[in-house]
Amino acid sequence: MSKIILTGDRPTGRLHLGHYVGSLKRRVELQNSGEFEKVLIMIADAQALTDNFDNPEKIRRNIVEVALDYLAVGLNPAVSTLFIQSQIPELTEFTFYYMNLVSVARLHRNPTVKAEVQLRNFEESIPTGFLCYPISQAADITAFKATTVPVGEDQLPMIEQTREIVRKFNSIYSEVLVEPEALLPENSICMRLPGTDGKAKMSKSLGNCINLEDEPEDIRQKIMSMYTDPLHIQVSDPGHVEGNAVFTYLDAFCRTEHFKEYLPEYHNLEELKEHYTRGGLGDVKIKKFLNSIIQAELEPIRVRRKEYEKDIAAVYEILKKGSETARELVAETLDEVKRAMKINYFDTMSDFGL
Ligand code: TRP
Repeated sequence: MSKIILTGDRPTGRLHLGHYVGSLKRRVELQNSGEFEKVLIMIADAQALTDNFDNPEKIRRNIVEVALDYLAVGLNPAVSTLFIQSQIPELTEFTFYYMNLVSVARLHRNPTVKAEVQLRNFEESIPTGFLCYPISQAADITAFKATTVPVGEDQLPMIEQTREIVRKFNSIYSEVLVEPEALLPENSICMRLPGTDGKAKMSKSLGNCINLEDEPEDIRQKIMSMYTDPLHIQVSDPGHVEGNAVFTYLDAFCRTEHFKEYLPEYHNLEELKEHYTRGGLGDVKIKKFLNSIIQAELEPIRVRRKEYEKDIAAVYEILKKGSETARELVAETLDEVKRAMKINYFDTMSDFGL
C-alpha cells in the first residue's frame, strides 16, 4: 500500500523554534525522503474556529502567516499539497456521518479534549463543535486515506479515536477506510523544546520564544539571556547540564560538524558537557556557540520568508491550488463512503429499472 502523509496546524499564531524542531523540520525531511506517495499539509482553520469562533479575523490573519512559515522552512508546494481545511466542504460531510459512530461520553474521555476544556474554562458550556473536533480530525485523516500522521504526543488521543472510527465504520459498512499510524518526533527533546527561560514550554504568551522571523540581533539577545544553571555562578563552579536550557537546545540542534566550525577546542557535545559539569566552562561561551548554530539554522528560513512575503498573492494562489487538489483527492473516498453506507441513491436507480 502506498504511504500517504497528512498533518496540519491550527492557524492561531506564527510558528516558532519549538514548532520547528517539534514538527516542521521533520515534515520537510519526510517530504524530501521520497518515501511517500503524497504529502498533505493542512491549515486547520475550521478546527481553530471551534474555540475561536468569536474571532474569525485572528484565524484569517494567521492562515497566511502559517503558510509563509511552511514555505520558509522548505515545504515545497511542487511536492507537498498545502491546503486550507474549510475549503474542502467534503470534510464536513465525513464528519457528520462519523458522528454517528462516536458517543458523547467517548468524546468527554478524550484526554486532549479534557485538558483543553479545563484550560479554556468551558466547564458545562462546551461548544458542540469543540467537543466534536476529534471526529472532524478523523475526517481530515481518513478522507485522504492517510497512512501516516506526523504529530506531537498530545495528538495521540486523536489518532486513537480516528482508528476506532475507522474500525467501526469498516465493520458496520465495508472496508473503505484506512487505519492511520501516528509518527512521533524521533527524539524526546524535539517533542517539547523548553522556553528560553527554562520553563517547560515555549509559548507566545510567556514571551520565552525564539520566533522563526526574529532578526539576528533579537536571536542573539534572547540566547545570551537564556536560563542556564542557577548554581553555576563562577566560571570555575561545576555546572549542571540537566534542566539547563542551553544544553537542551544544543541537544536538539548541535551536530558534530558545528564544533569544527564554531568551537574547535571540543570534538563533540559530550566533551563540552563533561567540561561544564567539571567546572571551568563559562555560560557565555556555550551561549555564543548555541547562537552561532541557531543563527545558521534560521537564516535561510528568514530569507526565504522575506522572499515569499513580497508576493502574498502567490502564497494565496499556492493555497488555492492545493485546496483544489485536496478536494479532488477526497471526492473519491467520499463516493466510496456513501456507496458503503448505501446513500448513493441516484447511482442505484437502475436497480429500479430507471
Ligand atoms: N489538532 C492539530 C493541532 O492542534 C491540528 C490538526 C487538525 C491535525 N487536523 C489534523 C493534525 C489532522 C494532524 C492530522 O495541531
